[in-house]
Amino acid sequence: MVNVTDISYVRLRAPDLDKMEAFLSDFGMKRAHRTGTRLYMHGTGSDRYLHVTELGEPGFVGFAFNAGSLEDLEELARMEDSSDIEEIDAPGGGHRVVMTDPDGFQIEVVYGIEPRSPATVEGRLPYNIRSTYRRRGEFVRYEKAPSSVKRLGHVVIFVSDFPRSRDWYQPRFGFLISDDIVADDQPDKPVSAFFRCNKGDEFVDHHTLLTVERPGMAGLNHCAFEVEDFDDLQLGHDYLVDNNHLHFWGIGRHVQGSQIFDYWQDPWGRTHEHWTDGDQLNANSPRGRTTAAHVLDVQWGQRHPMNR
Ligand SMILES: [Fe+2]
Repeated sequence: MVNVTDISYVRLRAPDLDKMEAFLSDFGMKRAHRTGTRLYMHGTGSDRYLHVTELGEPGFVGFAFNAGSLEDLEELARMEDSSDIEEIDAPGGGHRVVMTDPDGFQIEVVYGIEPRSPATVEGRLPYNIRSTYRRRGEFVRYEKAPSSVKRLGHVVIFVSDFPRSRDWYQPRFGFLISDDIVADDQPDKPVSAFFRCNKGDEFVDHHTLLTVERPGMAGLNHCAFEVEDFDDLQLGHDYLVDNNHLHFWGIGRHVQGSQIFDYWQDPWGRTHEHWTDGDQLNANSPRGRTTAAHVLDVQWGQRHPMNR
């Protein structure tokens, strides 16, 4: 079994790369590379790119995970539904195995893409929490600007058949389940699960992938990018409002994963999330359980459009 180490990038299709780049720039990414038919965007973290757009009809192609070694790629290449190991024809090079999941999504596993130097957000000051004032004699003066997108944190997809997808993803990539989600009226019927990477004692995001059963609607639900902190998320929110982008949901705090979140739509209605302050679990963390009706609950903030 191979344990993937994280999610790497999402791959979409769009008919207008200028428009896509304009949205992603306002969302907090920068151009890494562009050809006549491909747009690669990076964030402030070490990933060479974390968002790829191919020129074409609007659509969702798939996403990529990081492997821990070339040997892991070799093992994945031997599995059913996998390509041989290929060289990646994109900035930073590296190698990949390309697979097709049960709904036809293109899942890549990559290794050896040369990293970029990460950038830090300058000038952020600590919060003065009542019990520990850490900012003394300094003034907070932040200006709205695109958020500092650090990395892709997770992807949520609709799948035709949850058990089929779970049995495809979980053993292939070594995922642990952070929370099971069962049907509201059938506690024995799993309809979704929050998957996280297994890095043993090392702490990782509460979820890297969420697959939600929605027969007839298989596709991307949203892709979610970690930003610097709460101020960064709110400043980026204000910037996106000023630039007339389409807001979908937020700001609020999730229950499963606990992230502070804010959801936006690209020019073709694909949802892109900003999040910060998510839960970190390791292989020893307990497994949770909830029902489909409660998975969109918030601890505070704006309720989901379906629950308003
Ligand atoms: Fe999310």
